[in-house]
Amino acid sequence: MNQTSQAWGSRIGLILAMAGNAVGFGNFLRFPVQAIQNGGGAFIIPYLVSFLVLGLPLLFIEWSIGRYGGTRGYHSSPLMMQSMDKRRLWKYVGVFGLFCNIGIASYYCYMESWTLAYIFHSAIGTFNGMTQHEVVQVFNDYVSIGKSTLIPFEAIIFFLICLGINVYVLSKGLKGGIEKVAKIGMPLLIVFGCILAIRAFTLKAGVDGAVYNSSVGLNFLWTPHYQSILNPKVWFAAASQIFFTLSLGMGCIHAYSSYLKQSDDIALNAMAAGWMNEFVEVVLGGAIIIPIAVGYLGVDHVKELAALGGLGLGFKTLPYLFTQWGNVFGAFAGVMWFGLLFFAGITSSLAMGTPVQGFLEDEYKWSRPKTALAFGIIVLIMGLPTILFFNQGVFDEYDYWTGSFSLFVFAAFEAVLFAWFFGIKKGWDEINAGADIKVSRVFKFLLAYVTPVLLIIVFLGTVFAPVNNDWNEAFHGLFRGQGWTFDHGSVIGKIMNSELKEQLAAATSQSEIDSVKYRILLINLSRLLLLSLFAAIAILVRRAYYKHKREGNL
Ligand code: ALA
Repeated sequence: MNQTSQAWGSRIGLILAMAGNAVGFGNFLRFPVQAIQNGGGAFIIPYLVSFLVLGLPLLFIEWSIGRYGGTRGYHSSPLMMQSMDKRRLWKYVGVFGLFCNIGIASYYCYMESWTLAYIFHSAIGTFNGMTQHEVVQVFNDYVSIGKSTLIPFEAIIFFLICLGINVYVLSKGLKGGIEKVAKIGMPLLIVFGCILAIRAFTLKAGVDGAVYNSSVGLNFLWTPHYQSILNPKVWFAAASQIFFTLSLGMGCIHAYSSYLKQSDDIALNAMAAGWMNEFVEVVLGGAIIIPIAVGYLGVDHVKELAALGGLGLGFKTLPYLFTQWGNVFGAFAGVMWFGLLFFAGITSSLAMGTPVQGFLEDEYKWSRPKTALAFGIIVLIMGLPTILFFNQGVFDEYDYWTGSFSLFVFAAFEAVLFAWFFGIKKGWDEINAGADIKVSRVFKFLLAYVTPVLLIIVFLGTVFAPVNNDWNEAFHGLFRGQGWTFDHGSVIGKIMNSELKEQLAAATSQSEIDSVKYRILLINLSRLLLLSLFAAIAILVRRAYYKHKREGNL
């Protein structure tokens, strides 16, 4: 059995690191936009139900698998899962726990590096005096390599700086690195978030250029549209948000909890970290970008911007709106907003490095600094295509396969492993071992039947999603004999490149045709790269498995 010198320094450090792992861009950029697009205040109902029936049970599962595996000497999911059941499939399912982290970190660290660049530009007043169009252009140039008018190749420079910071912190280990960053970053993030939320809540029409009172934005975000609750699309959106925001189905929770002792609590810790994430998401995440953007731009314009996703609002709109608050407070607001995003991002990306470090340390006895450097190099190699071909959709492609699809696959399998193969009785004992709270037996029922079945449904839903995600219409159409048309965003639609093919068919000039063909080529190549990454990890895992078998550990 492998021993590791790593351990958490304190319980509060562990909870803050776990909460930091969960709190990320998803809380501040993705959540408010999802809420607007899926029924406003009514979104909170499917969202909370998903949190209770998928989120919390999966947190219990992942914390349990992690501690179970850790006490047997495994600090990444492949062999942890293998140690829970004899069937040889599990180690390959566990490959997702390394694959997702590398894949997500490859674009997530790039995004994290934007926040560093934007802290810098807010502090030196780059955006002062710019029109909104000019601020949008700064971002567009930034992500078009070679075009940045501010610093040449600055996207690459900031990416390297950001990776360097991640590698440095990871090289310091759990207690000396990750825990320290979480202890500083999480409180600062909450302080910055509260200051910005107060500023958003006190927006008054006619003051500082605001056109509407803050209540307009808050009403826009939170007015419930109850009819949306009947729409399966809204439930899928809520479930996806819960996955992404809690970092479920990624493998990093397993890795963090693998450094616990068998007698350490996981039930209360999992609850504490999960609820802290929900507080930051629903209370702070809902209180900043939408109320500020609506206060200045009005509901209709913000609706259009939100349709393009949270990135646009966060990076192209807010820096402009902050300049309305004067050069000094505007600069502070920019530093706080992007500082908050940076801490949210880094506490998540550090968690993505941990399983990779755990695997390399367990199997090759590499030191922490060496494993940190290896993670940095892998992310650099995998991340470069997302930077160089951002405008061709490679960034989004990574996000789809590693930050969405794979999470569903991994989560569905691990729930089935835990409840049906490891066995709910053993699983329940595992959750309750060392527990500082009495976990309601309702969760035992959820874990045994509801969560695995729902996860299988959610997984199948992403594979077969019908056009516009309109399930009601799709089933009616099917019964009328009109067949089933897949949504561009469904797994099948993606594999078939249906959206790009539609664009190709609609292209009117040769240059348009060439540009779409180029995109299809790059998208296919990026998938090949991701597949090769998966295969490479699977080979290493297979070797590790046989080594452990020979040693009689598995
Ligand atoms: N849970 C992380 C986020 O919300 C990945 O961004």
